[in-house]
Parts: sequence; structure tokens; C-alpha cells
Amino acid sequence: MANPLPDRHPARTAGVRTAFEAVYNWDYEPEIDELRTLYANALDRQWIALKQLDWEREIDRDAFSRTFSMGGIPIQETRFWQELPATTRWEVASRSAVFMLSNFLHGEQGALMVAAQLVNAVPHMDAKFYAATQTLDEARHVEVFAAYIQKLGQVQPIAPGLKALLDDVLATDDWMLKAVGMQVVTEGLALYSFRDMRNATEEPLLKELLTYVSRDEARHTGYGIKYLTAMAPTLSDAERTRIEDFAFEAARKLIDSRGGGSMRDSVMEIWREAGLDPAWAFGEIAKERATVAAALQRSGGRRGPIRGFVIPTLKAIGLFSDRIAGHFDEMFRASLGADFGSTREDPTAVPEDLEAWVEST
Ligand SMILES: [Fe+2]
Ligand SMILES: [Fe+2]
Repeated sequence: MANPLPDRHPARTAGVRTAFEAVYNWDYEPEIDELRTLYANALDRQWIALKQLDWEREIDRDAFSRTFSMGGIPIQETRFWQELPATTRWEVASRSAVFMLSNFLHGEQGALMVAAQLVNAVPHMDAKFYAATQTLDEARHVEVFAAYIQKLGQVQPIAPGLKALLDDVLATDDWMLKAVGMQVVTEGLALYSFRDMRNATEEPLLKELLTYVSRDEARHTGYGIKYLTAMAPTLSDAERTRIEDFAFEAARKLIDSRGGGSMRDSVMEIWREAGLDPAWAFGEIAKERATVAAALQRSGGRRGPIRGFVIPTLKAIGLFSDRIAGHFDEMFRASLGADFGSTREDPTAVPEDLEAWVEST
């Protein structure tokens, strides 16, 4: 028998207080053609998770636990990694995979709520239409990651860095800050990480699921690039500074280790639980810098989601001034404790066909 209604109310946790202006637009004509095209494309590419993926299939736990994903840093190619005991490698890889997947799921819930906010907050009708399709896409992503994690039987809480980023994006009352925080920083992180895991995993259902989800995320990133590129010439210097600062702060939540709440800190915690001392591991990996650099070169030389994708996107839109490059460089130096080169030298180009890029290896 079904539970009585009060028992079925979900447990409440603290939410995010938010207020922003819901903007009408009485002009229903297309205004930004590229966004109208993207909306039509999104309608055309809808898929139904329950029908398109084979949920009867059991998860290949062995293959899942070998899914090693470290934001594109190929440490598994180092001698250090290869010489670790097999049980340690197994523990680190499988725990990291559960951590990543859990954060994909929680991140998708945040994206679902922000996309719905954008329907209200963006001023252009084409942009409202598009955000409506993204809202549906993100609901489907929550659905598929939740279904996969249910099969896996393991879920971890959201990482503090990702939660802080989502809170900020949900809370801001400025649609352009929401757009840069969501469509550039969060979507760039998602697109890069999903592609990375899709290429790394040999677990068939996960590989298929991530391929479908990544195609949607490629459109979401495309929306941010097209919309903000269209808006960039209209911005005052003060507005540009505000947007750049917000993007920097959003990225900082994920990667600044000085406060101890970065994604890297969360991953280090997992390594520790798996019996691997992070400080020692990093010292050993640093000795094999040439191997890591060569492996990175083979994979296109991209260096994690922020430097490999988010910064090039900000540059392509025209939201990466010399001033903000200085902030990023200082943070990378302080957080990573080593000279990884200046973000001023990072690539400017983002792949023109994002959908083709996410499907490439
Ligand atoms: Fe998503
Ligand atoms: Fe998305």
C-alpha cells in the first residue's frame, strides 16, 4: 500500500534564497538567429532515456571500477601509477569514479534549476525558447545519472566546491552573470569532464549514456558562446569587469586550493581514503613531468576543464582581459605550487563543431 502523503514529502535541506527579475518580451519575432537555430536543433535532437538506453543491462562493475578520470591529467601513464599495488590502483580508480559520477548527478540538478531560471531572466525570446529546451535536457540528465547510480548502489554527497559554485549561480540576480556562471563555467566543466570519462570508460552503459548526455551539453555550451558573443559588444567596461570577475570567482570555487574546498581537495581526500598519500603521490608524479607532458600532447595538450576549456571559451567570447588573466595566473601558481605557465598562453580557440568534438577521442 502507498505511504500516506506526509511520509512521502522529501527531506528538506537548506535551499538558496534567490530573487531576480522575470523579464517579459512583447516582441515575438526572432532576434538572435543563431539562438533560434540552436533551439530548432535542440528540438530535433531530443531523446528519451528509458527508450534509447538499454537499462536491462547489468553494470560491468569491473569495467566501471577501472574508469579512471582525473580531469584529463593522464597520471595512469606514469611509471609511478603503474608500479602501485593493484589493490591501491583499484581502490583509487573506483572511488574516484563514484565521486565523479555522484557530482555529475548533483551538478545536473543544479543545472536543471538554473536553466529554468534562465527562461525567466533572459531578455530575448529566442534565448527563452532555448533555455526551455535546456531545462528539459537537464531533467533528462538528472534522470539518467540517477538511474545509473541506482544500479551502481553507491552515491556520495556533492563536493563543497561544486555546491558553492551552484549556490552562487542560483543566487545572482543578474542574468548575464547567471549565463556566464552556468553556460560557460559549469557547462564547460561538464562537457570536458563527461567527454573525458566517456573516452576513459569501458563500461558499456556508462559510455553510451555519456555520449548522449555530452551531445546535449555541447549545445548548452554553444548557447553560452553564441549568446554572450552577441551581447559582448553592447557591454560597458564596468559590466565586462563584473562578468569577468564572476566567471573567475566561479572557477575559483572549483580549483582554488587555498581555502581547502576545491575539487582537487575532494579528490585528494578520496586518495587518502583509498590508502594513497596525496603529497607523496604528487611528488612522485612531478618527477615524471616529461611523461605527463608527452601524454598531454598526444591528447591535444588540453589541461583540465578550466585551462583546457573554460579559459579558451572566455577568450573566444572576449571576456578574458589581461587583468583577469593575472588573477587566474596568481591562483594557479598559489594552488598548484608550481609553474604551469601563464593562462595568457593558453589556446584561444574552442572547437568550432562542439558536437563533433565531444564525440571524438
Ligand atoms: Fe546536463
Ligand atoms: Fe547542461
